[in-house]
Amino acid sequence: MADFISGFWNLYVTGLVAFGLLFCLVVLVTNMTSQGAGEPKLQAHVWDENLREYNNPLPRWWLYLFWATVIFSIFYLYLFPGFGSRHSDPADPAKDRGLRAEYAKEIRSANKQYGPIFEKYLGTDLAALSADPAAVAAGKRLFLTYCSQCHGSAARGAKGKSYGFPDLTDSDWLYGGDPATIKTSIEGGRAGVMTAFGGTLNSEQTRDVANYVRLIAGLGSDAARAARGRDVFATNCTVCHGPEGKGARSMGEAFAVLGAPDLTDGIWLYSNSEEAIIDGVTRGRNAGPDSVTNTMPAWKDFLGDAKVHILAAYVYSLNNKK
Ligand code: HEC
Ligand code: HEC
Repeated sequence: MADFISGFWNLYVTGLVAFGLLFCLVVLVTNMTSQGAGEPKLQAHVWDENLREYNNPLPRWWLYLFWATVIFSIFYLYLFPGFGSRHSDPADPAKDRGLRAEYAKEIRSANKQYGPIFEKYLGTDLAALSADPAAVAAGKRLFLTYCSQCHGSAARGAKGKSYGFPDLTDSDWLYGGDPATIKTSIEGGRAGVMTAFGGTLNSEQTRDVANYVRLIAGLGSDAARAARGRDVFATNCTVCHGPEGKGARSMGEAFAVLGAPDLTDGIWLYSNSEEAIIDGVTRGRNAGPDSVTNTMPAWKDFLGDAKVHILAAYVYSLNNKK
């Protein structure tokens, strides 16, 4: 969170504010004409044929007021703080000033106000909670705030060549759809690892295995390539995707943590074009710097147990409507 506001903007704001104040001071100092003895002098310029101006100084009361506002604003901006945010003492956040401290304060007061609303659900078992309309409505609001960026506001997911945010409504699970496993996914996050085969398989073998994957998925494929790809698959892919490509969970719940999807069920995490499959097999997923990074963040520390509990009930409810 802290990285949303970089140090650059603090300096930028500080610089702008300081410049503005300095400008006011220069204007003030250069206009400090004092009242000379004798008659006030007329300025040299004439407007509209006969309109002339005395060189009278600015009224004292007005000038003092101006000075006072400038001095006040320096103190005010320091305390507000308008000179960018500062971290005074990391050990004592209560003494902090600045945007981050303001944010933390708002979070603390919101937690105090709304915390109990969420806490009261913590004692309820997830399956029962998923049938409680008030809890599901609260879960939906949390979902829209924290999860919809990736999973979509209707939790239907999103797919592309290099990202795959699972549909959470289709009762097809990478890790498992029982309430406890859903909660574990949210609490600890997930990052399914698929080896990058760019160094092991040559481009022909990669294209062959991609055609085999499309064949078992019931999609159009090149028969000769798919036949060769079957062997490539048996050697390299079955450890995670299972002997028939039906996914890690088809080999037993002990394998569920691998998160390797069923490739035969017609439900795709990523785009299923030949090119996208080749790209995924070549670069791997969550398997190093050249790999596709596709992770589910961990939410336990950020949201706390009570909110995660409600979110798990909400996600569970999406699949158990009928
Ligand atoms: C930055 C994107 C992102 C955000 C934000 C995000 N997720 Fe995910 N989520 C993912 C990805 C990617 C996966 C698949 C991970 C994998 O394949 O290993 C996933 C997987 C899951 C799963 C497991 C699905 C299965 O099939 O087993 C659940 C449940 C889930 N997310 C719920 C949530 C909830 C609830 C939130 C909000 C608190 C959330 N996600 C926020 C990207 C995200
Ligand atoms: C180490 C385990 C592992 C191995 C080995 C592995 N995969 Fe995967 N595969 C995964 C995981 C995990 C995912 C999901 C990645 C994610 O969540 O981002 C995946 C995703 C895929 C996808 C995308 C599926 C979809 O629904 O979009 C395809 C296609 C695929 N693998 C094909 C293969 C092929 C072909 C091989 C062998 C050449 C292979 N995998 C080997 C673990 C593995």
